[in-house]
Amino acid sequence: MQLSDIADDLTDILYTEEQIQDKIAELAARIDADYAGERLLLVGVLKGAVMVMADLARAITLPVEMDWMAVSSYGSGTQSSGVVRILKDLDSDLTGRKVLIVEDIIDSGLTLSWLRANLESRGAASVEICALLRKPAAAKVQVDVRYAGFEIENEFVIGYGLDYAERYRNLRGIGVLAPHVYRD
Ligand code: IMP
Ligand code: MG
Repeated sequence: MQLSDIADDLTDILYTEEQIQDKIAELAARIDADYAGERLLLVGVLKGAVMVMADLARAITLPVEMDWMAVSSYGSGTQSSGVVRILKDLDSDLTGRKVLIVEDIIDSGLTLSWLRANLESRGAASVEICALLRKPAAAKVQVDVRYAGFEIENEFVIGYGLDYAERYRNLRGIGVLAPHVYRD
């Protein structure tokens, strides 16, 4: 699905498919250089990171492994509380592994800071983070993101894996959701 297919549902186009792919290539090149000769495990956070993971993993030229986790954070409404529940755990043993968490977006940072601590506690040799988007103004905790894509305003964005009520994940670009969509 293209941004133009849902133009009425957007107030702004943030990144086109091409801009996203350029950024992914940039991040992949840095990961290639930093992990050359290593056995890297990419951990994607379901479901939002599916597109980033698929494109990033293919842009990386090293033979990586991929695993997935699904987590949900308890909280009131749209506010994340930092209390996280694992809905689907990894299949891999992390002992001694170099792990790179792949995320779509960092909002409050609560989910990711919990996740990093959780993976570190399993004996991983290192745990780093790659996130395509970040909202600095929404940060409640500082998360050290080694591979950060775009910094955006504190607005609700959709596309390229990011959803509103499970919709728009299959959008090729990223846009700002129009208020009439969540009021209706
Ligand atoms: P937090 O960093 O713990 O607040 O939670 C981040 C998670 O909230 C992300 O992994 C997304 O699933 C979701 N999220 C945060 N901001 C947005 C947004 O603008 N659009 C869609 N999902 C979002
Ligand atoms: Mg997510």
